[in-house]
Amino acid sequence: MNTSINGDRAAWLHGPPADCSAKPSAVQEDRKHSWRLVLLGAPGVGKGTQAELLAERLGACHLSTGDVLRAAGKRSDCDQSPAMKAALEYMRRGELVPDSTVWEMVRERSGCLLHCGGFILDGFPRTLAQAESLKGLMATEKLSLSAVVNYELPVDEIVRRLSGRRTCENCKSVFHVTEKPPKIDGVCDRCAGRLFQREDDRHESITVRLDAYERSTAPLIQFYKDLGLLLSVVAQGSPDEILARTMDKLEAVPKRT
Ligand code: AP5
Repeated sequence: MNTSINGDRAAWLHGPPADCSAKPSAVQEDRKHSWRLVLLGAPGVGKGTQAELLAERLGACHLSTGDVLRAAGKRSDCDQSPAMKAALEYMRRGELVPDSTVWEMVRERSGCLLHCGGFILDGFPRTLAQAESLKGLMATEKLSLSAVVNYELPVDEIVRRLSGRRTCENCKSVFHVTEKPPKIDGVCDRCAGRLFQREDDRHESITVRLDAYERSTAPLIQFYKDLGLLLSVVAQGSPDEILARTMDKLEAVPKRT
């Protein structure tokens, strides 16, 4: 692997020893002012879109496990461990990657979770076992989650969002063919990279992903409700409207160390 990788989210996307160019602000150096959020919700509900907006608003880092897996998929064959190759196959089919592989990946990047700038976890945890692992790590480090935001949307709208999604192969910016079309068809507004449709946004994989969500991830709603951390947000409307709704709920949250 390239050991000189440096840039926004590089440490998360590529793992150690990559380094990030984004540094926490002076205010965030004090951990009390940092946000540590988990975003829950079915595939396609708009977690990634909200995570980007929240990261900008709150100054915390957007950490998506899906992005780490997709970045690993871009590496040459000899740079991929057997566990990672198997993980990419699960992902293509729309199934969840085994907990052991995902936790290994997150643990390797735990510096991003402990970073004083705070974080917005998108796509992790996704099973009760992963939630328990995260809870254990946070307890060891004497840190708490600020809140868990659960986005809610009817299934037909989810399928519409997923089937129209287009992603930049270069900077990973997300568009939608009708809701958020790029200025030039097939070209990223941000970096002029090529836009593509994710393999797991094909119809067959969408069904598998929604089933996996209901079976394995939906139980986390009760898990975090029991911990007093859950905030439910309706994910209908424009991204800015949903962000405003999320911020309203977050403003009522007491800050924890
Ligand atoms: P991951 O990348 O996490 O995918 P996901 O959770 O299925 O979520 P998506 O990225 O599909 O959707 P999103 O909610 O972020 O929506 P987005 O903002 O893009 O995971 C992929 C796979 O990796 C998994 O299936 C699994 O195999 C594996 N994996 C990852 N983490 C794992 C873990 N912890 N354990 C096990 N396996 C794991 O929006 C969708 C579309 O809608 C976009 O086109 C967007 O422009 C549009 N849109 C967004 N908001 C709005 C709006 N308000 N109005 C209209 N359109 C909107």
